[in-house]
Amino acid sequence: MNIILCGFMGSGKTTVGQELAKIMGRKFIDTDELIEREQGVAIKAIFTVHGEEHFRNLEFECCKNISNMKNCVVSTGGGALTFQRNVDALKQGGKIVFLDADFDVICQRIGNSKTRPLFQDREKARQLYDERKSKYLSAADYVIDGNMSARKTAIEIADIFR
Ligand code: S3P
Repeated sequence: MNIILCGFMGSGKTTVGQELAKIMGRKFIDTDELIEREQGVAIKAIFTVHGEEHFRNLEFECCKNISNMKNCVVSTGGGALTFQRNVDALKQGGKIVFLDADFDVICQRIGNSKTRPLFQDREKARQLYDERKSKYLSAADYVIDGNMSARKTAIEIADIFR
């Protein structure tokens, strides 16, 4: 069974996922990284050149591929589990964990990084955060406090699945 981490940009999905995979001796997969590797370009370039809808289709293909894998720790892009088709694909053979981090904590973590096309403006990002929260909650099998250190969060998640 796969462990799927979801949550907003900056909620710690990648760092927690890497830590969790290490603790549990599982393979780690990051959907954004898989897409970038397959396409040979950065996510930001995919958005700029082809638009968000194209990126969402690539993301859906990626989720379907992951549903055929076993015993992986998967970190998803912040928008992935706001689409029901991705939730349905990933729930086949996986449990979803929502990393619930406060918006202020997220802003501190993201800082001035400009790599995220949907986090260029703090106010717009705040709106997206508010819109998405209920979707993450309804997709999730488990909700974990995402404000803690990556190590502490990973240990809490590992305890659930042991
Ligand atoms: C997105 C989040 C990003 C990446 C893309 C879109 C989103 O992933 O998938 O920029 O819609 O929130 P991270 O959550 O890893 O930053």
